[in-house]
Amino acid sequence: MAEQEIAVKDLSEADARVELERLATLLAEANTAYHTDDAPELSDADYDLLKRRNAEIEARFPTLKRADSPSDQVGAPVADGFTKVRHEVRMMSLSNAFEDADITSFDQSIRRYLGLSDTDPLAYTAEPKIDGLSLSLRYEQGKLVQAATRGDGAMGENVTANARTINDIPETLTGAPDILEVRGEVYMSHADFADLNARQQSRGAKTFANPRNAAAGSLRQLDANITKDRPLRFFAYSWGALSAPLADTQTGAIARLQELGFQTNPLTQRCDGPDDMIAHYKNIEGQRATLGYDIDGVVYKVDDLGYQSRLGFRSTTPRWAIAHKFPAELAWTRLESIDIQVGRTGALSPVARLTPVTVGGVVVSNATLHNEDYIAGRDANGVPIRGGKDIRVGDWVQVYRAGDVIPKVADVDLDKRPDDAQPYEFSKLCPECGSEAIREEGDAVRRCSGGLICPAQAVEKLKHFVSRAAFDIEGLGAKQVEQFYTDGWITEPADIFTLRDRYGSGLQQLKNREGWGEKSAQNLFDAIDEKRAIPLGRLIFSLGIRHVGEVVANLLARSYGTWVAFQDAIDAAQDTDGDAWAGLIGIDGIGTVVAKSLVNSFAQEAERASINRLVAHLEVQEAERPRTEGSPVAGKTVVFTGTLERMSRAEAKARAESLGAKVSGSVSAKTDLLVAGPGAGSKETKARDLGVQIIDEDGWFDLIEGA
Ligand code: IVH
Repeated sequence: MAEQEIAVKDLSEADARVELERLATLLAEANTAYHTDDAPELSDADYDLLKRRNAEIEARFPTLKRADSPSDQVGAPVADGFTKVRHEVRMMSLSNAFEDADITSFDQSIRRYLGLSDTDPLAYTAEPKIDGLSLSLRYEQGKLVQAATRGDGAMGENVTANARTINDIPETLTGAPDILEVRGEVYMSHADFADLNARQQSRGAKTFANPRNAAAGSLRQLDANITKDRPLRFFAYSWGALSAPLADTQTGAIARLQELGFQTNPLTQRCDGPDDMIAHYKNIEGQRATLGYDIDGVVYKVDDLGYQSRLGFRSTTPRWAIAHKFPAELAWTRLESIDIQVGRTGALSPVARLTPVTVGGVVVSNATLHNEDYIAGRDANGVPIRGGKDIRVGDWVQVYRAGDVIPKVADVDLDKRPDDAQPYEFSKLCPECGSEAIREEGDAVRRCSGGLICPAQAVEKLKHFVSRAAFDIEGLGAKQVEQFYTDGWITEPADIFTLRDRYGSGLQQLKNREGWGEKSAQNLFDAIDEKRAIPLGRLIFSLGIRHVGEVVANLLARSYGTWVAFQDAIDAAQDTDGDAWAGLIGIDGIGTVVAKSLVNSFAQEAERASINRLVAHLEVQEAERPRTEGSPVAGKTVVFTGTLERMSRAEAKARAESLGAKVSGSVSAKTDLLVAGPGAGSKETKARDLGVQIIDEDGWFDLIEGA
C-alpha cells in the first residue's frame, strides 16, 4: 500500500507502472460492480478520483499507458441475460474537469486545435450532468426499433421492451430522419425514489442505495413488467447514427429533439465562453438541491456541429465536450495514530489512522501523510506548507478527497490540539526490519536500507514478481504470496520454482493448508511450470528494480536480446567510462537514473545471488518485435510543415497518431513522409536532399482517405 499513496508528481516510473496496474484492476472491479451488478462498491467521487489519478499518471508517463488502460474504457461489458447490441456509433464517455482553470484550458485547447484566435467567437452549451444511466434509442422511419444501454461503449444490452415502458420515450416520431438514434439519460426523481424504496421495504424486497442504482436496477430487469412499475424518466441530450443532420448547432439539435417529443433539460443554455460557462455552472450548482433529481456536474459542449466533427474523439471521449464535476467533500476528524508502511523499494510512507468519518458518502479511516516533511509542515525545499503547522497524533485534522485516490490529511485545527500532543518524530529505522532508514539528498522519501532482509520489501517484491505484467502465475496472487512468505515456504522468487520439489510430493501438505484442495494445488504447480519459459522483457520487469517499469524492461530486452547479453552488459556498465555504460544510456528511453539503478542492483551481492538462483530455473525467451497495424501510415514517421489550410497542426498530429504514425517536428534520415503546405522552407529542402517522400495537404487527405 505504502507506495500507492505517493503523489503523482513523486512517483518513480517503476512505482507508476505498479500503480497503473492497481488502478486498472480497481477500476475494472468498480465498473463491473456499477454497470453489470448495479451494486457500486465505490462512491462516484471515489471512482472519479481513481480515474483521474490514472489519467494523471498516464499523462506523466505516457509510455506506461496500459493496453487495457481504464482511460480507454467506457462502462463495463454487458451482463448475461440480455442480448447484445453493437452500437453503430460508439457511445462515448466524457473527460472530467474539477476546477475553473480546467475550463479555460479546455477552451484554449479547442481554439488551438481549430486554429481559432482568442478573439474569434466560439460558443458552447452548458447543461446539467444527469446522474443516471445512458441509453441509446434507435428510430427507423419514425418507429422505435431498439433501445440499448451503453455497455462497454461498443456493445450494450438490448433493453427495448423495458424502454418502451418509459413515458418520456416516444414510441413513434413525426418528421424525424429515417434513421435517428437518440441518446440521453434514464434517471429517477428523488420523490419517486423515496416512494419506490418505501414500497420495496414494505414488501420486504431489496431497497436501493441511491436513485441512480434504482434507475439502473429498474431498467435492467429481464421482466419488462417490473420496469413498467418503476417510475423512470428520460432526458435526451445527444445522438448516434443519423440519416440526415438534425441541425447546425448543438442548441439547434436539442431544440429539434424537443420538437420531436423528447424531454430535454430546461437548464441547458448557450454560453459565449469560459466566464459565461462558469457563471452557468454556479447557477446550476445553486439549484442542485431543489432540482428533485441527482446531477453530479455540468457538461459543456462546443455548439457548432461543424467544429464538433473536426474536433472528433479521443479513444473514449469527445474533444468537443467536458464534464465539470462538483467538488469533492471535506470532513474533520481525530488523528489517532501514525503508522509507517514499507514498500517494495523500501520507501517509508506515513499513514494516518483516523477516527472513521464520512467523506463524500464513504467512510474514511486511513489517509496519507505523504512523507516526513509533510508532517512537519514544510515542502521538499523547506518552504512552509499549511502556514507551517505540523501534524501531531491527537490532532483534529481535515480529511480531503480530490485529485488523488487515497484521502489526504489537508489541514490541522490548532485550537483543538490536546495540551500533551508531541511533535511527530519520524523514525530513522525501518519499522519492519530495524535497518537504518536513509534519506538521500534530493529524495523526499526515507528508505529502508535492509534490501532483501527486510520482510516488508521482500513481500512487496514477491507481490510485484507475480503481478499481471510480470510472471502472472494463475492462482498465485498477492494474497497467496503473502501467506507463503509468512509460512516460510517462499522467501524469494526462485522459491516459487522449487515449490513442487519441496512440497509437491507432499501435494498433501499444500492440500491440507487453508484454501487449497488437491485440484487447486495441482493447478498451481502446473501454472508455475507454464511460466518457466518467460520472455526476457517480463523477466527484467519482474525483478522489481527501482525505475525499471514495463516499458523500460521491454526496451532493454529489445536492445540486448538475450538474458546473457543483458546481464553481461549491466555488469560491464559498472565502469561508467566504458562502452557498455555508453551503450546502456545510449538506448532511446534509458537515462542515467535508470542505468544507475540497474547497475547498482546487479552489483549488490545478495540481490544478484537471488537473481541468479531464479534464472537457473527459467528458460528466457527473446523479446518479440512490435507489429504494425493496417493503416497506410502505421509505424511511419511523419513531419508536417508549412501552412496547413484544412486542419490545424494539432488536428493533423492527432489524426496521424490515431492512424499509428509517429509525428516528429524535424526532418531526419528516419523521416518517412513530409506533408508540406505553402511556405514550407528548410524542412522541405532537407527532405528533398534526404530523398524523403513529400506530399501536400490534399495528398495527405487522399492518402488517409478511408483509413
Ligand atoms: S453527453 C459524446 N450530456 O455522463 C458525449 N452526457 O460521464 C456523450 N451524462 O456517458 C455524453 N448527463 O451517461 C452528456 N448532459 C449530458 C449528460 C451526460 C449525463 C452521462 C452520460 C455519459 C456520462 C459520461
